[in-house]
Amino acid sequence: MATISMNNETDTIPFDQMQMQINKATEDVSVKCNTAIESYIGFEKGFTRISIPVPELSPALIIQSLGVIKDHIEHIRIHSFSEGYYAVQALNKNIFKTENIFDNCKIEFSGLMTNFKIECTKKGNLSQEEINCIIALMQKAYSSIKDNPVTRLIRRGASVYTGTEGIDWNYIAGYEEVKRIIRESIILPLKNPSVYDNIARMTRKTFEYNKPKAILFEGPPGVGKTTIARIIAREVQVPLIYVPVESIMSKWYGQSSQNLAEIFDASEDMGGSILFIDEIDSLAGSRDQNMYEATRRILSVLLRRLDGIGAIANTMVIGATNRKQDLDHALINRFDQSIHFPLPGENERASIFGNYAKHLDTEELIKLARISDTLSGRTIKDLCEQTERRWARKLIIKNLPPSQPPFEYYYHTVKNFFTTQSG
Ligand SMILES: Nc1ncnc2c1ncn2[C@@H]1O[C@H](COP(=O)(O)OP(=O)(O)OP(=O)(O)O)[C@@H](O)[C@H]1O
Ligand SMILES: [Mg+2]
Repeated sequence: MATISMNNETDTIPFDQMQMQINKATEDVSVKCNTAIESYIGFEKGFTRISIPVPELSPALIIQSLGVIKDHIEHIRIHSFSEGYYAVQALNKNIFKTENIFDNCKIEFSGLMTNFKIECTKKGNLSQEEINCIIALMQKAYSSIKDNPVTRLIRRGASVYTGTEGIDWNYIAGYEEVKRIIRESIILPLKNPSVYDNIARMTRKTFEYNKPKAILFEGPPGVGKTTIARIIAREVQVPLIYVPVESIMSKWYGQSSQNLAEIFDASEDMGGSILFIDEIDSLAGSRDQNMYEATRRILSVLLRRLDGIGAIANTMVIGATNRKQDLDHALINRFDQSIHFPLPGENERASIFGNYAKHLDTEELIKLARISDTLSGRTIKDLCEQTERRWARKLIIKNLPPSQPPFEYYYHTVKNFFTTQSG
């Protein structure tokens, strides 16, 4: 007599075949998205477990994934929800699990901020339809990578600031000349692109963009180069894509140049953005020096994108360096303009102290400025913070109510800084 079982052994696929199918699908998706995906399939204590990392679990993707599961597996019940981040917006929790009530095939979505994954567990082996379901979920999760430039950028190690929040020009004290040049050469073109295009249409035999495409910020450490890039993005209300070259190189060692190319592509797809390539000197070493192969390849991507074939149209590139003299000359030439950020002069140092110790009077600020020659804005800020911490300790020990550190405390910290430096 035939028995009908929802868990018919003959319907399931042997482990090595499951493994082959999952591995093959993972490889296909990896190639398509140019991303190394490390999926896992194993058999532990009678259970098959498949785990697939995915780039994101947005509310939209979770809802679409539920649709995918329902297409493949019947009698699905959404089993549980638990605390978390992303799906808070859509489903009020971050983990959810679906369970086939007859077969006990569980599919779980999890991840907190990062490490998103889709996991499937089932006693015994999976049926062909269940394998198909897992593969379809993986394809769906990675299909968004091609479409969503922000996801693509983040996966490549860039950060994206929306340009709507953050600090404004008041945050940077002094530097009036730098601010003026930036207004003229960056802010105006980004805010009024059509004026520049119209002029070029009227003047050129063959139309070309005449807006600056690449600008170099150069100057010693801690003088506000990175900070000002963020202020610009906020002022012109375009996304700022922040690319720390050093960490891209170490994170993606071996495929960094490919990733940089992808970062340029994704920035273009944002349809207007500032691509801030920080620490550009990590690529430094002119061609005469012994440059590693990887660095050379990255440099050639940069040269190509900043000029000629594969050049960018929607993106303004800002490069920052504190070792301009070490940069490749061909690279320096690709920048339309170089803006020098000097160390702050005496009046500027007084203003910077004024930003971080607003309770001091002008005379006191000038006294601090006089004893802090050669210090950068960053060091001044650090010294003000040290002073606050020293003052806070005193208040705590003496059980005093909150108050501002007096001038002498600042004076002492700065003096002490130079003494320890020279010692
Ligand atoms: N003129 C200034 N006014 C106020 N704060 C300043 C000024 N210059 C620098 N700072 C402060 O110093 C810190 C460091 O600045 P930032 O990171 O922008 O420097 P940088 O030039 O990018 O340095 P690096 O070359 O090391 O990357 C910031 O927190 C910034 O607020
Ligand atoms: Mg910086």
